[in-house]
Amino acid sequence: MSEQRVPYGSDALDSMISGGFLQGSANLIEGAPGTGKTTIGMQYIYNGIIKYGEPGLIITFEEFPQQYYHDAMQFGWNFKKLEEQKLLKIIFSDPHTTLAEFDKMDGELVSLVEHMNIKRVVIDSMTHFESIAVDPYELRGLESRLINALKREGVTSLFLRENDNLLGQVTHVTSKIPFIVDSYLLLRYVEIDSAIAKALCILKMRGSDHQKDIRCFRITSQGIEVEAKFSGREGIMSGIGHSTPQDAFVNVFGKKK
Ligand SMILES: Nc1ncnc2c1ncn2[C@@H]1O[C@H](COP(=O)(O)OP(=O)(O)OP(=O)(O)O)[C@@H](O)[C@H]1O
Ligand SMILES: [Mg+2]
Repeated sequence: MSEQRVPYGSDALDSMISGGFLQGSANLIEGAPGTGKTTIGMQYIYNGIIKYGEPGLIITFEEFPQQYYHDAMQFGWNFKKLEEQKLLKIIFSDPHTTLAEFDKMDGELVSLVEHMNIKRVVIDSMTHFESIAVDPYELRGLESRLINALKREGVTSLFLRENDNLLGQVTHVTSKIPFIVDSYLLLRYVEIDSAIAKALCILKMRGSDHQKDIRCFRITSQGIEVEAKFSGREGIMSGIGHSTPQDAFVNVFGKKK
């Protein structure tokens, strides 16, 4: 890993991670179903190609490339055209095949990364490794193998991972992947005033400073938009945000004149 930064391509998110992910790092994006993991992954790849001239690779274990073309197009990102221009490759595979390919130095995936000069990789999603290894040590070994292979290739990767807990405490983590990766970004649903909002925070970033705020974000027709932090709220990461005592006082009695 170097000190050089690989920007996500959105000012608000990049400012949270001190300008970007560290070049050559492995980064985990974890969240409940529908929180926007795939969208964040697609936008990272799209920005890389369009804004920074960095070709990208998406390896998916769950959606066919056609689904990606369709979903990306909803944001105005023409992935099919980028593939034709050899700036992007979307591969539908499974964890075993992907690992075996990366183990071979003359394998198809390694050649592809080198020939296309791939700089950014998204793996959607690491949750599939949990179905091929029951033993936590075996799982850690498989996850580390993939992470190390991508580091060896010098690419900056986003590893997407599902988190079953829709709201409330995060429990029963079988995978130790948060310990293996260099940075860990968590997406959460939060209940505020009887509505569901989405929250984002950076839990760790090795070798770098990062913002500790819990920020609100939305998915719009432009992709993800990171907004202000949840001010005057407590308990956001528990899933149910409530007013701080100070704000509750102001709500009831108004501000001191
Ligand atoms: N074009 C769009 N405009 C606005 N919001 C959108 C658009 N496309 C998707 N969304 C929102 O993004 C959510 C899904 O995003 P995404 O597929 O990235 O989530 P995910 O975390 O990858 O989900 P899963 O766990 O099912 O893989 C949708 O539920 C919807 O709220
Ligand atoms: Mg997804």
